[in-house]
Amino acid sequence: MGDPTRPKGPEIVAIANQKGGVGKTTTTINLAAALVEQGCRVLVVDLDPQGNASTGFGVDPSARDLTTYDLLLGDVDIRETIQSTDSKGLWVIPANADLSSADIEMISNEKRSFLLRDALRQRTLDAYELDYILIDCPPSLSLLTVNAMVASDSVLVPLQSEFFALEGLTQLIMTVREVRQSANPHLRIAGIVLTMYDQRNNLSKQVEADARENLGELVFKTVIPRNVRISEAPSYALSVLSYDPTSKGSVAYRSLAKEFVGKRGQS
Ligand SMILES: Nc1ncnc2c1ncn2[C@@H]1O[C@H](COP(=O)(O)OP(=O)(O)OP(=O)(O)O)[C@@H](O)[C@H]1O
Ligand SMILES: [Mg+2]
Repeated sequence: MGDPTRPKGPEIVAIANQKGGVGKTTTTINLAAALVEQGCRVLVVDLDPQGNASTGFGVDPSARDLTTYDLLLGDVDIRETIQSTDSKGLWVIPANADLSSADIEMISNEKRSFLLRDALRQRTLDAYELDYILIDCPPSLSLLTVNAMVASDSVLVPLQSEFFALEGLTQLIMTVREVRQSANPHLRIAGIVLTMYDQRNNLSKQVEADARENLGELVFKTVIPRNVRISEAPSYALSVLSYDPTSKGSVAYRSLAKEFVGKRGQS
């Protein structure tokens, strides 16, 4: 059964940065698409009440009966929350505004930080033979994001190439450390990816230089350029790879996927 080179169990990756609008959802969607293009089987978990990843994959709001909220707080089989997408080998667990009350509802639960981890450990998920689970986090270091980190093998951090980009990073790295010390000693930082990079802009170059100097190998060699095709694609419910396969954005996300898979092999 299956490919003998396939690693045991999916690698679970939280795509996180408490700063809003830095490219978390865009990176989740397009990294997922690039991994699928390379033959991987990928599940995206939308862990943001905004539901942007779900919309980006074309899950109609009216078709979000069972969502990440039910996965965390309801007693449901994970299979009931998974939806297939137009792309073979790519699935999504959608989210909607229901999830905005989850933080408060989880607080009284003594397993509050472990709800997502336990949900993703359901054996019924095995049949999907997933290689990766990518979790699109909300723009906060809330209990939802902590759940993502507790459930994950690694955290991938999109960093917008603009001033102040590095400021929030200390807090994010501290949260990763706290989770490592308490609930999930195996949590790694998969890497930091510079997004919305503008080659003609000195500020982008400065942010890149600062990031590489301070964070070294943690920063992916691949940078994601600011590219209008990337921002247009979600309105057609497509990844940029499907929308415009030869665009600079597609080339960059393919390169990120290769580097990401390669890094996994090293560690
Ligand atoms: N490389 C890029 N080039 C051009 N536009 C981009 C790029 N990456 C992201 N965007 C645009 O920037 C905006 C924010 O991106 P995105 O929604 O991915 O960020 P986010 O971190 O998920 O936001 P939030 O914190 O609200 O969840 C979106 O309109 C998106 O289309
Ligand atoms: Mg988002």
